[in-house]
Amino acid sequence: MCGIVAYIGPREAYPILIKGLKRLEYRGYDSAGVALLNGSMNVYKCKGKVSDLEKVTDGKNTHAHLGMGHTRWATHGEPNDNNSHPHLSQSGDIAIIHNGIIENYGSLKEELTNRGHVFTSDTDTEVLVHLIEDVQQNTHTTLDEAVRLALNEVIGAYAIVIISKNDPAKLIGARKGSPLVIGIGDSEFFMASDATPIIEYTKNVTYLNDNEIASIIDGKLTVKTIDNVEHVPYIQTLEMNLETIEKGGYEHFMLKEIHEQPRSIYDSLRGRFDPHTGMFAMRSLKEHEGKIKNLKRIIIVGCGTSWHAGLVGEYLFEDIARIPVEVEYASEFRYRNPVINEDDLVIAISQSGETADTLAAIELAKEKGATIFGLCNVVGSSIPRTSHAGAYTHAGPEIGVASTKAFTSQVAILALWAFGFAEIRGKATKQDLRNAFAELETIPEKVEKTLQCEDQIKELAKIFKDSKNFLYLGRGYQFPVALEGALKLKEISYIHAEGYPAAEMKHGPIALIDKEMPVVVIATKTAIYDKVISGIQEVKARKGIIIAIVSEGDTKVRAMADYVIEVPETKEYLEPLLTTIPLQLLSYHIAVLRGCNVDQPRNLAKSVTVE
Ligand code: G6P
Repeated sequence: MCGIVAYIGPREAYPILIKGLKRLEYRGYDSAGVALLNGSMNVYKCKGKVSDLEKVTDGKNTHAHLGMGHTRWATHGEPNDNNSHPHLSQSGDIAIIHNGIIENYGSLKEELTNRGHVFTSDTDTEVLVHLIEDVQQNTHTTLDEAVRLALNEVIGAYAIVIISKNDPAKLIGARKGSPLVIGIGDSEFFMASDATPIIEYTKNVTYLNDNEIASIIDGKLTVKTIDNVEHVPYIQTLEMNLETIEKGGYEHFMLKEIHEQPRSIYDSLRGRFDPHTGMFAMRSLKEHEGKIKNLKRIIIVGCGTSWHAGLVGEYLFEDIARIPVEVEYASEFRYRNPVINEDDLVIAISQSGETADTLAAIELAKEKGATIFGLCNVVGSSIPRTSHAGAYTHAGPEIGVASTKAFTSQVAILALWAFGFAEIRGKATKQDLRNAFAELETIPEKVEKTLQCEDQIKELAKIFKDSKNFLYLGRGYQFPVALEGALKLKEISYIHAEGYPAAEMKHGPIALIDKEMPVVVIATKTAIYDKVISGIQEVKARKGIIIAIVSEGDTKVRAMADYVIEVPETKEYLEPLLTTIPLQLLSYHIAVLRGCNVDQPRNLAKSVTVE
């Protein structure tokens, strides 16, 4: 969702802002803008892409050493030039950019309108910058203090950055609910929604916590809470490097990330177990052994692809560790008054670690006394920081909006946890662990082998690129994979697709099957292989087209299916790590042939920081 980037220092701000906005494009947006301070406040903004903004600024004065840029994902007010950020205060002296939602903007707007303020946009953000100026004028205080006082009147979620024509040596940022990271360079500072616009210049960053305000004044950073308590910022050094956020020769980030999976799965698992001894090296297991031993239930929360990983987690924990599991959409969980007990463990899965609904679900579960494990990819993000324990997936930055490598890394860690929990609860022996670890170690190589199906997938994409609907079927561990395959296709190619448990097909979707309908069936050699085969026959009897994902060497399904993609054999519980790959590639190649914007699909955001 909205992307923020800001700069103060000796360099020219504009190129840093534009490059930063391009790095943030992956978050999803519909308009872009910059504010540059150079004696006067120059604001340029428009509906459209960052490249459209560059056309707007062409030939204009962009010289400045203080400035900020924004990509907007519309919430209040349609995407148009006026509603784009930055927004200005009544006098035009103060500029703001904002990610989030100001919930009480209606009442604030009314009060300000009564006091003579005139608004030029439909946004909640413009109300906030007017409020800040109003407070500053009424209390005759500094800009940073006015921001603090104004934020005390605000209900909602925000990451904001403020600059003022009257304070050319000040850059103010604040956060509540939406991320803001500060980069600390040599006599220069950066602010951004995530570290991607910053790492080119400095690896030293500090992540603001909720209710904190960062003020850079005359080259010095101060962090205080909105209650006026000063905090010493925790400065960390990022491990991310530039290569990991660039395309590295691939046409799209999504394709690069699909191909990175042998490495990203390896990185997720690396150092976390020893296949010779069957020992774990995971802090979450060590430090919470007592809790794990006694817990009665696991609740997994997440959204989108992370929720699908959670479903695989359900199968893993129940199958391997014999613990009852519930998997919940975070957005439903948080509003349905769920029963949560102190002996529950809530596992929150999120690539970004910033998804607003998942964060809110955690807060709710924490209030009720549950223990929270976070499973996230973005280091330093909000969910890991608010969880009691957890694990990073270490998949590296995922830039393509459609999640690929994050999913397989999440599943890999869930498998590890399932075995760890099983051992602690006496459901797995050291030998079981050694066997599982030995197989896990082969997964990166098997993923590499699976990726070799790409040429075959390209041919399939040519055949099916104009299909109107797709059905994805799977059973057991493959049911969440079917859901994930369908989601990938919907997200990036805009073809309607449904994922279904194979046996449920006859209770509804079977009515849709005709000779136009491609049905992707995951039919690997599992305990219920024969049942899946019955499903295939039911589709064939109605002239549906079968694209089957099968185990290497399979002959039975091959005899029935129209198209067959093989994946190497592995333990059933690890198969999602392989069967997902051809489905990712299929959606990718179909989307490319349809001319879709694969990395930034319409209307979607990478990190959904509002409800
Ligand atoms: C958005 C993204 C999805 C992602 C979901 C959850 O909708 O477009 O790809 O799966 O959010 O995000 P998270 O960062 O919590 O995994």
